Amino acid sequence: MVGAGNVGATAAQEIARRDYADVVLVDIKEGLPQGKALDLNEAGPVLGYEPTIVGTNSYEESAGSDVVVITAGLPRSPGMSRDDLVTTNEKIVGSVTEQAVAASPDAILIIVSNPLDAMCHVSRTVSGWSRQRVFGMAGILDTARFRTFIAWETGASAKDVTAMVLGGHGDQMVPVVSATAVGGIPLRKLVSDERIEQMVERTRKGGGEIVDHLGTSAWYAPGAAAAQMVDAVLLDQKRVLPCTAYLEGEYGIDGLYIGVPAKLGAGGIEEIVELDLTDDERAELGRSADAVREVVGVLGTS
Ligand SMILES: NC(=O)c1ccc[n+]([C@@H]2O[C@H](COP(=O)([O-])OP(=O)(O)OC[C@H]3O[C@@H](n4cnc5c(N)ncnc54)[C@H](O)[C@@H]3O)[C@@H](O)[C@H]2O)c1
Repeated sequence: MVGAGNVGATAAQEIARRDYADVVLVDIKEGLPQGKALDLNEAGPVLGYEPTIVGTNSYEESAGSDVVVITAGLPRSPGMSRDDLVTTNEKIVGSVTEQAVAASPDAILIIVSNPLDAMCHVSRTVSGWSRQRVFGMAGILDTARFRTFIAWETGASAKDVTAMVLGGHGDQMVPVVSATAVGGIPLRKLVSDERIEQMVERTRKGGGEIVDHLGTSAWYAPGAAAAQMVDAVLLDQKRVLPCTAYLEGEYGIDGLYIGVPAKLGAGGIEEIVELDLTDDERAELGRSADAVREVVGVLGTS
């Protein structure tokens, strides 16, 4: 776990609680990864887990990792968009990718740092690895937000809400209403178009809503979402989850990282799943791709 801040430490704890994998927290801040790792180890007897959790300022102890999750970089402050982070985080993500892949040449890279889609490009360019092995986490989080709002609206369990949010991890993301159901019943049969539109908007601005409350970005749901991707890879689960994947013609998009459903297993992204989108949803995905291309266009590394 590169970056032992809010998201990195939360994802580390989620993974530790599963009790099947050791975790190394790497951060540039001296004392931070060491202190958090010690605290996480000491939670083990209470919570009933005992993997080895190590905190360090170097990559040596992470050598030979099966999965590297990159959460290093600045989070948003109030009034900032994710794209405002691009210049600073490009340098950080480029440098940590270089060091992480040197230490763990057979790993799979899961990127979390923002602006997410652009940071995936940075990591792929720097590593030179295949698209199967470099991808990002955003869609599980965005979809979880949409599912939460739908569960509250319908009074159903969030567990029975199925949904998929695609597109870039920004305000132009595309909650796919045609693929959203509660207990198998299409959302449009249960909730008015007006309420659906409000939930879609709240999902799109879901990250900002939390930044406005906290003064920094979310970490519980992002950390849990990153851990779910780690599970899918390390346990070869073949889960179909929304992932930020490099498209080569799928959905009519070529040469761009963007959120789409993908089958995740031991090989990383094993298949990109193409949903039947309505014309409106396809047009929205195209607009979201344009917004991602703009940010990718300012990168120095890609
Ligand atoms: N993809 C998503 O859905 C999603 C969700 C939430 C947050 N994020 C992003 O994840 C990133 C981390 O967020 P956070 O809330 O954990 O921030 P944070 O500030 O709590 O933690 C970031 C950590 O990165 C470390 N760091 C900075 N430069 C480093 C380097 N060169 N090497 C190693 N570590 C370095 C910092 O010391 C800090 O501990 C941000 O960019 C944020 O925007 C993405």
